Amino acid sequence: TRSPVTVTVTGAAGQIGYALLFRIASGQLIGPDTPINLRLLEIPQAVKAAEGTAMELTDCAFPLLRSIEVTDDTRRAFEGTNIALLVGARPRTQGMERGDLLEANGGIFKPQGEAINANAADDVRVLVVGNPANTNALIAQAHAPDVPAERFTAMTRLDHNRALAQLAIKLGVGVDEIRRLAIWGNHSATQYPDLFHAEVGGKIAAEQVERQWMSDEFIPTVAKRGAAIIEARGASSAASAANAAIDHVHTWVNGTAEGDWTSAGVVSDGSYGVPEGLISSFPVTARDGRYEIVRGLDIDEFSRPRIDASVQELVDERETVRGLGLV
Ligand code: NAI
Repeated sequence: TRSPVTVTVTGAAGQIGYALLFRIASGQLIGPDTPINLRLLEIPQAVKAAEGTAMELTDCAFPLLRSIEVTDDTRRAFEGTNIALLVGARPRTQGMERGDLLEANGGIFKPQGEAINANAADDVRVLVVGNPANTNALIAQAHAPDVPAERFTAMTRLDHNRALAQLAIKLGVGVDEIRRLAIWGNHSATQYPDLFHAEVGGKIAAEQVERQWMSDEFIPTVAKRGAAIIEARGASSAASAANAAIDHVHTWVNGTAEGDWTSAGVVSDGSYGVPEGLISSFPVTARDGRYEIVRGLDIDEFSRPRIDASVQELVDERETVRGLGLV
C-alpha cells in the first residue's frame, strides 16, 4: 500500500460529483493500492446534500477510503490536496452573456486558485471540469503563482472519448484499435477532433473515412454531443463526464501507453501557433506524472483553420477575463 492521497472535489453535491465520488473512493482514480482522503467542497446551501453523499460513501465500506470531509470553506478544502477536481461552476442561465458567465466563474475559480496556491500539497495536480473549463483553469492558474503552471489542466478527455467511440462505430472496430486521436483547442463547439494522425490498424484514420463524413458528421457529432445528451436525457452528461475525469487523472499519474497519446487542456508553450499561456487541448503524452504536448506533428490544410478558429475563441476568452482583471 502506498501513502494516502488527498483528493478534493468541488461541486460534490452535483450530478457529476455523484457519478465521480464512488469511483474515486473505489480506487479507480489513481490505482488499487492508494488510500484516499476525500474533501468535498460545496456552497453552503448544498453542504447538506454533499453530507448525504458522504453517508453513502461511508456505507460502501470502500477499503481504500480513509476519510471524508465535507466543507464550504475553500481554504480548508484544499489543505494538503494532492489532486483537485474542480467540477462546481456557475452554469449559463437564460439571458446571460458570455462575459457575464466568465465573470461569474471568475468569482469561483480565482479564490480556488488562491487557496490551492496557499494550502495545497507541493505536488498538487488540478483538473478543471466546470465550464468554460479552459478559461476557468486559466483563471485558477493565474492566481496560483507558486504552483507550476503545468499542474493546471482542463478536461477535454470526454471529447476525446466521444471521438474515439464515433470513429470506432464508423469503422466497425473496437476503440482499443484506435491510437493517436487528438482533440485540439477549446472544450466548446469549436473544438477540433483530429483524425489525420489517428491510426486504425496501422493506417491513418482520415484516409479510411470520407472527407465529407468527417466535416459534416464526425466533427459536429463530437462537438455537439453535450447538447444531444441534454436533448435525449433531459439532463447534461454526468456519468460520461465523471468517467473522463477519472481517465484524465489516471493517465496523468500512470502514463500513456508507448506509442500512443491522449488529449488534455494544458498550458501552451507556443507549440502549433497556440499562444503561450493559453490552456488549450493538445495531443499529449503522460510520463513520470507529467503531461507533455506531442511535438513535431504536421498540421494539414484541413486541420489548420479549424485549430486556429478554436484557439481564437480561447484568445477571445482570455481577453475578456483580462478586461475583468481576472488574469
Ligand atoms: P450540477 O449543477 O449538477 O453541479 C454543480 C455543483 O457545483 C452544484 O452542487 C453547486 O452547488 C456546486 N457549486 C457551485 N459553485 C460552487 C463553488 N463555488 N464551490 C463548490 N461547489 C460549487 O452540474 P454538473 O452536471 O455536475 O456539472 C458540473 C460542471 O461540469 C458544469 O460546469 C458543466 O458544464 C461541466 N461539464 C464539463 C464537461 C467537460 O467535458 N469539461 C462535461 C460535462 C459537464
